[in-house]
Amino acid sequence: MSIKRVLSGIQPTSDSFHLGNYLGALKQWVALQDGHDAFYCIVDLHALTMETEPALMRKRTLASAAQLIALGISTDKSTLFVQSQVPQHNQLGWLMECMAGFGEANRMTQFKDKSSKTGADSVRVGLFTYPMLQAADILLYQADLVPVGEDQRQHIELTRDLAGRFNTRYGQTFTIPDGYILKTAAKINDLQEPTAKMSKSSGSAAGVIEILDSPEVNAKKIKSSMTDTGSEVRFNEKEKPGISNLLTIHSALSGATIAALENEFAGKGYGDFKGVVADVVVEYLAPIRSRALELLEDEKHLIDLLHKGAAKARTVAAGTLETAYKNLGTVA
Ligand code: AMP
Ligand code: TRP
Repeated sequence: MSIKRVLSGIQPTSDSFHLGNYLGALKQWVALQDGHDAFYCIVDLHALTMETEPALMRKRTLASAAQLIALGISTDKSTLFVQSQVPQHNQLGWLMECMAGFGEANRMTQFKDKSSKTGADSVRVGLFTYPMLQAADILLYQADLVPVGEDQRQHIELTRDLAGRFNTRYGQTFTIPDGYILKTAAKINDLQEPTAKMSKSSGSAAGVIEILDSPEVNAKKIKSSMTDTGSEVRFNEKEKPGISNLLTIHSALSGATIAALENEFAGKGYGDFKGVVADVVVEYLAPIRSRALELLEDEKHLIDLLHKGAAKARTVAAGTLETAYKNLGTVA
């Protein structure tokens, strides 16, 4: 059996990834590099569906690349690249737009959610066609597996439908990818509002642990996280959402089971526990942050690594696009 191809993407829409991104998705990207042929794409074109600022766009794209490498994506094992450096994404994106029905695209819940927040007048057409570009991202590489969070399930289904439709109409062209929905991945909640997920769009920065934040800032955020009622360190998401979230974070980073942690902290108070979680988080993130900052100091080297990834991605993407055009009957 040949080794499976994996593809995933992440938008460069924040100055730093947060602990939710890492434990919910990026940690699995790192694990999948072994035993798979992995392609990881920083999807800057998808980020254009919201207002962007040129200097920020550049900064965030580079910061994303530096963090991905720092947290363990190897540019030798994996193909790490920036979407806009591979023009075939837009080219296949158009073909996918011509395969998709308007009604079908109109049923995408991410579009409905995001557009209802923005308001109909300022929603961009690109937000509507976003899933067809995402389908192109995946199909260009003949990916077998697409590791994503639950929120992306519908986009993967659409990708499968579009690929199947194209293959039926025009002959075998694309591998039908399977979603690799990260159910086992930890879902991390906001430290101040522990019933809501940790998110870049969260109300207060105090609830979000950012990979590029200083150890001091992150330790302080954990120590001043919301305190539940009661005093026992026990996992109970309903009654103790804050402590349960910290237990999840500790367990995901240290590898200790929740049960072992409950034992360890039996008879100790929340304050002690928060102090230990702060240490675990800082110890884990500090070297990742230093490595990322180091990579960002040598921009040329970082950009060279991305160019190398894009060159490899273009070769694969060009092959798929050529087959798709040929099967469609375009004159070469
Ligand atoms: P985003 O750019 O915020 O959509 O995040 C990119 C990916 O990170 C998502 O598709 C999720 O898989 C993951 N993710 C984001 N926030 C969290 C969270 N709080 N807990 C777990 N996973 C998350
Ligand atoms: N839509 C994805 C998200 O918001 C990002 C993405 C773009 C993606 N293209 C992709 C994910 C291709 C997986 C595969 O998280």
